[in-house]
Amino acid sequence: MSIHSEDSRRVTTHRLLEMKQRGEKISMLTAYDFTIGNIVDLAGVDIILVGDSASNVMCGNITTLPITLDQMIFFGKSVVRGVKRALVVVDMPFGSYQGNSKEALASAIRIMKETHCDCLKLEGGEEILESVKRILSAGIPIMGHLGLQPQSINKYGSYTVRAKEDSEAEKLMRDAHLLEEAGCFAIVLEKIPAKLAQQVASELTIPVIGIGAGGDVDGQVLVLHDMLGLTQDFSPRFLRRYTNLQSIMNEAIEHYVKDVKSGDFPSEKEQY
Ligand code: KIV
Repeated sequence: MSIHSEDSRRVTTHRLLEMKQRGEKISMLTAYDFTIGNIVDLAGVDIILVGDSASNVMCGNITTLPITLDQMIFFGKSVVRGVKRALVVVDMPFGSYQGNSKEALASAIRIMKETHCDCLKLEGGEEILESVKRILSAGIPIMGHLGLQPQSINKYGSYTVRAKEDSEAEKLMRDAHLLEEAGCFAIVLEKIPAKLAQQVASELTIPVIGIGAGGDVDGQVLVLHDMLGLTQDFSPRFLRRYTNLQSIMNEAIEHYVKDVKSGDFPSEKEQY
């Protein structure tokens, strides 16, 4: 356990609610494999999201739409094996829950049975409420996701800030309440005005986690590849890059290539 984390007990949805109640901010990051999931967990992150951003950063797709249920299950399983403390949330991929609530439940049950994750995240409000309720009724905790919803990129046509207009802001607030009333344990708000996010967080009793939603919410989430500087071509205003892993890796790999070419590697000590 890292020195940064004071509490080694497993994070549960109940403990997240207690964190909100006592004003302790919640940290959340993505991970898509065993090794990175383990590193993120040991660093003391509260929630690990096996996001469908795996479609972009792991599979090289332009959007999150192509990733399949089987692929999300593969990534989810790998992460769960590396995590001891954090709550692991797996994103339900595009097409696995929008059809009807029966299909949504079947997809949700597959993810839970095959990955052993703790809970699921779905994008949307009123439109998917029936599916949300059906999944919740099977005892599967759900995290909602409002504001910018990357799975709906083809409807909106861009990744710009959402809910700037009053009508969209009112719908978002309504959706947030509907998700809370249905029984979701938390909501992610992506790329919306900070003032609106603050209002949602103060009206809801469940934790509200922001990404590009300002600081007056109950926690923050970032895509790990972005905050570590593994990706370079994505620089929204909300992104803080904590290091430049791309250049660190590049330097190490170039060094290795040089050593192989020159015959410096392996040395006598590095052989049998
Ligand atoms: O898939 C993802 O990484 C996400 C975050 C942006 C919240 O949904």
